[in-house]
Amino acid sequence: MKVVAVYSTKGGVGKTTAAVNVAWEAAKLHRVLLWDLDPQGAATFLLQVKPKVKGGVGALVSGDKKTSAAIRSTDVDHLDVLPADASYRDLDLVLDSAKKSERRVSKILEQVAGDYDLVILDCPPGSSLVAENAAFSADAVVVPLVPSPLSMRALDQVLAFVAASASTAKVVAFLSMVDRRKTLHRDAIATLPGHAAVIDVVVPSTVVVERMGAERAPLGRYAPSSEAARAYAALWAHLQSSLKPRKRKR
Ligand SMILES: Nc1ncnc2c1ncn2[C@@H]1O[C@H](COP(=O)(O)OP(=O)(O)OP(=O)(O)O)[C@@H](O)[C@H]1O
Ligand SMILES: [Mg+2]
Repeated sequence: MKVVAVYSTKGGVGKTTAAVNVAWEAAKLHRVLLWDLDPQGAATFLLQVKPKVKGGVGALVSGDKKTSAAIRSTDVDHLDVLPADASYRDLDLVLDSAKKSERRVSKILEQVAGDYDLVILDCPPGSSLVAENAAFSADAVVVPLVPSPLSMRALDQVLAFVAASASTAKVVAFLSMVDRRKTLHRDAIATLPGHAAVIDVVVPSTVVVERMGAERAPLGRYAPSSEAARAYAALWAHLQSSLKPRKRKR
């Protein structure tokens, strides 16, 4: 089982959109679990799963609730969701009071390691214990970059964050919400893929993606041949080739 965390210190850059669409691509051939770690529950909503976790996320972290009991299926074959509800607002505190607090997410996932080929973690923004857990359990950390100086700063922060943690995850950044009419964005397409962590995948800013909220479905369902759907397919292809077995630092 491989784990991909979609994460940035910056909010609103397309993490959830990437998580849902990469999950859809991967589920064509693999058994996929998407874990919504964000109390906003956007991934849960987009995949039409009820945002209700009996006992809250605290019961999962304490071990009182089995992981498999909290997982819900979606109407996409081979794609399940571990939904988020409001209890995820306290996840940082709950993790903090648990033993080996930065490894709890990894522990919770161990229980279902035989059931899935891939787990995608949709992380909330910011540097928190949730992010530390996600990075620790991840084989790859995917960072959407909206071309701007602030985004580059977010990428540097993620790289520093992962390097300082016990994680051995590979950091993979791609360009998200790109508007080619903007000089800054065109410049980013021309230069950024030269950065070691940035791959040559460009998701355009488009109403097709905005419609996801109304369709409550991955792009593959209602716009499979759109440029954005193809970009997420390319992102998944890239991730697949970089998900090689890795050793823990300790
Ligand atoms: N390529 C795109 N083109 C147009 N709109 C987009 C695109 N990608 C994402 N969006 C829209 O931007 C908003 C933020 O996207 P998303 O929820 O994926 O970001 P996020 O990084 O997960 O945000 P948060 O930090 O709040 O979790 C959403 O309304 C989404 O539909
Ligand atoms: Mg999100």
